[in-house]
Amino acid sequence: MLHFVLVSFVFFTSIRDGCARKGVTSSFVRSEWPSVDIPLDHEAFAVPNGHNAPQQVHITQGDYEGRAVIVSWVTPDEPGSSHVQFGTSEEKFHASAKGTVSNYTLGEYKSGYIHHCLVEGLEHSTKYYYRIGSGDSSREFWFETPPKVEPDVPYKFGIIGDLGQTFNSLSTLEHYMESKAQTVLFVGDLSYADRYKYSDVGLRWDTWGRFVEKSTAYQPWIWNTGNHEIEYFPYMGEVVPFKSYLQRYTTPYLASNSSSPLWYAIRRASAHIIVLSSYSPYVKYTPQYKWLAEELTRVDREKTPWLIVLMHVPIYNSNEAHYMEGESMRVVFESWFIKYKVDVIFAGHVHAYERSYRVSNTDYNITSGMRYPVADKSAPVYITVGDGGNQEGLASRFRDPQPEYSAYREASYGHSTLEIKNRTHAIYHWNRNDDGKKVSTDSFILHNQYWGNNRRRRKLKHFLLKVIEEVASS
Ligand SMILES: [Fe+2]
Repeated sequence: MLHFVLVSFVFFTSIRDGCARKGVTSSFVRSEWPSVDIPLDHEAFAVPNGHNAPQQVHITQGDYEGRAVIVSWVTPDEPGSSHVQFGTSEEKFHASAKGTVSNYTLGEYKSGYIHHCLVEGLEHSTKYYYRIGSGDSSREFWFETPPKVEPDVPYKFGIIGDLGQTFNSLSTLEHYMESKAQTVLFVGDLSYADRYKYSDVGLRWDTWGRFVEKSTAYQPWIWNTGNHEIEYFPYMGEVVPFKSYLQRYTTPYLASNSSSPLWYAIRRASAHIIVLSSYSPYVKYTPQYKWLAEELTRVDREKTPWLIVLMHVPIYNSNEAHYMEGESMRVVFESWFIKYKVDVIFAGHVHAYERSYRVSNTDYNITSGMRYPVADKSAPVYITVGDGGNQEGLASRFRDPQPEYSAYREASYGHSTLEIKNRTHAIYHWNRNDDGKKVSTDSFILHNQYWGNNRRRRKLKHFLLKVIEEVASS
């Protein structure tokens, strides 16, 4: 029965992915909470007990392969210890790593003491417990390292964007945590603190750090920036882009030979994940352009069959909000995404959900005149998940009629999951918030772009048959 369901699903989605059918604009309307931030005294922002207790704890991958973690936290009153004690059992922390501590100012705001500590040399597929802080104020958490980078290891990613700190954001976060996904791919626009002024900007970065801690302390969030991280504030003399973000959130960019924390790559389980910065230069000859050209050649689909790209501004978007803002990056990078068979590109920015068919528009140039995107089996699927639930509210005006490249779109809050099963298939879901009962949301089986073609499938079948023969004869 399961086999039948799977085959039917594969057949259905192979039609849907390959050629553009008529897309769906969902008419689903959910009455949501008002798009205002959660009050400062709400328990979602509770400060942990104890003098100088670590808060805003978050972890991210610390190397290229998944054997290191960067643990970050803030101590409010004094620097305190930058050590992370860790081990594989709850009571015994047999090892320790020392991190760095720093603080910064933003106008009148003075941050707490921000710690970043690289914990490396970890075993794969292992649960680690860790302790930070000291004495009665110390706090303990845990995380699980990913399996060794191998082509058929299953792994479940969550995708969240444009989260903010409203009650809708809280709903997204809690709904995501129920999904049992193992790592968040975050597509930019974290706290929306830049909607505030003067000291309240820093204050709202602090509340956001405490708000997401119940997930970020226990599993890595793979960070990316959006326009709300730029923070260009000439009125208070603050004009250095990404200042708060870069102080508070770190990425393992050096491990992928990047020259900036804003763009980088990691390998995790069976996926190669490339993070691009929509608000850093990316045209020809820029550092990001040159880096991506090299990084794409390092992708080894025999080891990491899944190639996933994260960016903030979507390339294919049919919402009135931010329409065409991704066009400049499309012109620069789209042909590479096709050449290197990127499986899926996740973006945020637009506060609604949308998924494209496999389409491309690479034949368009200035002199060829108008050209419409065409169905292209070699192209990635483009998915916009800017529906985390921030204070700006939903982008509910889609362009009419729905363009042929748009497969499904809906202005609701939610998040996505991508559950990799093996080298050929992954199950994708978009999960609308607060669906207590069965309601149809967007889901499909994603075929791997590299291993999905017939020649490689035959090669895989041949390989598996050989293994079976060897096992049988041994
Ligand atoms: Fe944005």
